[in-house]
Amino acid sequence: MELTKEQEKMLSGERGKAVQKAMEILTGLGDIYGAEKFTPVQSAHVSGVSIRTAGDAGLNFIEEMVEEGAKVTVPTTINPAALDLRDWDEMGVPEEISRKQIRIIDAYREMGADPVCSCIPYLVGNEPSQGQHIAWSESSAVIYANSVLGARTHREGAPSALASAVTGLTPVYGYHLDENRSGSVGIRPDPDLFAGGGTFQFSVLGYWVGANFPESVPVIENLHPNPEQEKALGAGMATSGAIALYHIPRVTPEAKENPEICETDEEASFGTEEFEEVRGELDQTSEADIVCLGCPHASEEELRRLSCMDVENEVWVHIPRKLRKRPDMKEVYQRLREKSVKLVCDTCMVVSPLSEMGYSSIGVNSAKAAYYAPLLGDVEVHFAPLEGLIK
Ligand code: F3S
Repeated sequence: MELTKEQEKMLSGERGKAVQKAMEILTGLGDIYGAEKFTPVQSAHVSGVSIRTAGDAGLNFIEEMVEEGAKVTVPTTINPAALDLRDWDEMGVPEEISRKQIRIIDAYREMGADPVCSCIPYLVGNEPSQGQHIAWSESSAVIYANSVLGARTHREGAPSALASAVTGLTPVYGYHLDENRSGSVGIRPDPDLFAGGGTFQFSVLGYWVGANFPESVPVIENLHPNPEQEKALGAGMATSGAIALYHIPRVTPEAKENPEICETDEEASFGTEEFEEVRGELDQTSEADIVCLGCPHASEEELRRLSCMDVENEVWVHIPRKLRKRPDMKEVYQRLREKSVKLVCDTCMVVSPLSEMGYSSIGVNSAKAAYYAPLLGDVEVHFAPLEGLIK
């Protein structure tokens, strides 16, 4: 890679050990992927925050970075942790997990990151604009930023996102370049399947696209999703595939600005058979100890809608603490409390220690949660639309 004089100093250690380590990570990636230079990033979002996914190795890496003087140089947010940082005791989280988790959060805080502990940073203050270069990890946020907001990011891992946060730089390759942002496969969903208006169908569609076209830039035809449905669609794609960008003609920003981007040589249809294939794969049980909503974290709109529905089962909704604190949401939260819906902040059903907390099965309406909760949370999953789960 061609480095500027300042970047050479950063790499040689003249700007400190942490900056040097970050530059080594980024130049290493740049060399592997054939980048010629760096570009500045406007923000970073770092995943791998939960002690359950980061482990002791992750904790040591982050604390070492702090000891070596790491400070973020661009606005930086972080992903959900393993517990609600305020109510972890009440949630029944084992103390050893909480102690280590709090050390991770403290380390990020020390570096200057905003500990939002949410996978929807774009709704809690870290919203990039179209064309901006950013360095985000958390696959559901990456695909939302690239597709719905038109920003440009790799699907970073936690170390490279942190390295970009510290240096303010990312190597230029992949989705940072125009030539890699064109659609590669057209997907034609049966619009009748999507008439209900929820997010479940979009989550299923996304999961199917990711499983069948894992390296693609899909173009989703015939649909006009709202932001919550776009969130579910992208999270599904990024779960079963390595997808980090999709387009929807006349809806997503790059497709609106440049319709040719949606022209593809390959086409595929999505109907009832494909829908049932995914549901059959992910739905493991018809019973659930609790219903866990908010994967990705629930938005204001989703909470408002839930507060107007009949809820009979025990429901937890995972949300960002910043949304929990919003004074204008007081009435909504009051209505949800009356329905015994519990708002859980800073964490989610996948990265929290559900089995250690005594749960063996959960109901979810998100394909991402349905895929990862059995793998990482050691619980069985009932995968169904929202209406069916809460009654
Ligand atoms: Fe977010 Fe956890 Fe789902 S991090 S996308 S709620 S698995």
